[in-house]
Amino acid sequence: MRQVYSGLAALLVLALSVFTTHAADAPRVVKSASLTLDASKPGVVIDRHIFGQFAEHLGHGVYEGVWVGAESAIPNTRGIRNDVVAALKAIKVPVVRWPGGCFADEYHWRNGIGPADKRRAGLNPNWGGVVEPNTFGTHEFMDFVEQIGAEAYLSANVGTGTPQEAAEWLEYMTSEHTALAQDRAANGHPAPYKVAFWGIGNESWGCGGAMSADYYLNQLKIYSRFSRNYLSGQKMQQIAVGPDGGKTEYTETIMKAWRDKVWSWNIDGLSLHSYTVNGWPPAKKATGFGEDEYASFIKETVGMDDLIKTHAAIMDKYDPAKKIALVVDEWGSWLAPAPGSKPGFLMQQNSQRDAILTALNFNIFARHADRVRMTNIAQMVNVLQAMILTDKERMLLTPTYHVFKMYVPFQDAQLIPVSIDAGTYTFADIHLPRVDAIAARDKAGKLWLALTNVDPNAAVDITIKLSGAVAGIALGETLTAPRIDAVNTFAAPDTVATKPAKARIVNDQMTLKLTPQSVTVLGLQ
Ligand code: AHR
Repeated sequence: MRQVYSGLAALLVLALSVFTTHAADAPRVVKSASLTLDASKPGVVIDRHIFGQFAEHLGHGVYEGVWVGAESAIPNTRGIRNDVVAALKAIKVPVVRWPGGCFADEYHWRNGIGPADKRRAGLNPNWGGVVEPNTFGTHEFMDFVEQIGAEAYLSANVGTGTPQEAAEWLEYMTSEHTALAQDRAANGHPAPYKVAFWGIGNESWGCGGAMSADYYLNQLKIYSRFSRNYLSGQKMQQIAVGPDGGKTEYTETIMKAWRDKVWSWNIDGLSLHSYTVNGWPPAKKATGFGEDEYASFIKETVGMDDLIKTHAAIMDKYDPAKKIALVVDEWGSWLAPAPGSKPGFLMQQNSQRDAILTALNFNIFARHADRVRMTNIAQMVNVLQAMILTDKERMLLTPTYHVFKMYVPFQDAQLIPVSIDAGTYTFADIHLPRVDAIAARDKAGKLWLALTNVDPNAAVDITIKLSGAVAGIALGETLTAPRIDAVNTFAAPDTVATKPAKARIVNDQMTLKLTPQSVTVLGLQ
């Protein structure tokens, strides 16, 4: 009997080791697939703001991640880390949402202006109850977005603030001749700032005050009415709080009110928050997970498509001209806190699974670009699905960062229709399209193709037929990893890194091998 048990145990160990080594060491299966790209039918422009970022006063997202202070030994410009700025410039961040998140509804902007030694410290009750020193405030944020070349998306405090406080914040930032403009000048910035996006509250159905949709709507009308941008010649877009995932009450209420609205208020966008979590509270490991968790995360990610369709259908009913954008201003994976980290700091590692998740979300957003015109991944540095992790003077780029970099050519490019026949990736009762792809033509006329092989067990030989386009070669990069849970660490920062990719095009046709669990972006020339 003991022998039977030990035999079974050996089999189990063998099965587990095959499973946990994932695709890297398993015998490679190769599937074939085809894709047709019709460049003669260009579609909607993929707004560059779809590739936006979110930075909240949370854990080490701002303090340490962005802000180290001018006295720091870490190289910085006016207190802002040079390494982080350089990395973010390379992914052409179009917009950064700040200061929250839940933090925004308890943020009082006056605490974050003026001489650093006079700033009043407060608390950050949402995120670990730590002291908020207020050394990073309006001027520092505006300096930061200017350094990285991004636009500013500020979230007004509706939860504990007042319409007056919000209106004065905007006046302080954007006016030229008022007393608040003089205060701004005295604090070192005579020229008005450009506020491109203005969020009216955050998750008002939850941490922002658990408001009913009708209650929030009344707040929205008041805040919108008095949120004035004084910078002439510059349109500021106002974003209302919208749905919590698949719940439709906010979408219905706000869109219906907008259709029937009076002149005194307006919005340009409706926010949607949806994280890939796999059960609440977030408890899934960032690395060291099995294929079961990989597959269920990817399935949940792909659900973003249905979510957008649900809300877009309601928006279409009240806004058939698609004047109001659906703004997915919080998305990404939300996992268990990194071992040893402070739970309220939401620190998590970032694996090749996150890279796949990012590419799939980008593809979904791009296909809905007629309605989805801005998204902001949560969050930029050291928090949730971050682009960058820092540890004192060290910095590393995550797999997610690499996908953002690879997709830069899709910013403001025109979507080109593709059809894919690549079969199905199956794990237990989860069935997903094996390959996902988008194509686009950039402003210079160059065609770009992004291909994601979701399957961790099979490479894919894909034949791509070009219609309405002439090209001889495709050059780009592939992001692949030894395992689907592979991460970059400070000791091994390039475990997940891009490699050059190339394909010849003969008679309007190219063939390419997509390695398992990979993202590839190619430019055709
Ligand atoms: O991104 C972390 C938090 O998630 C944000 O503060 C909040 O808006 C959301 O619930």
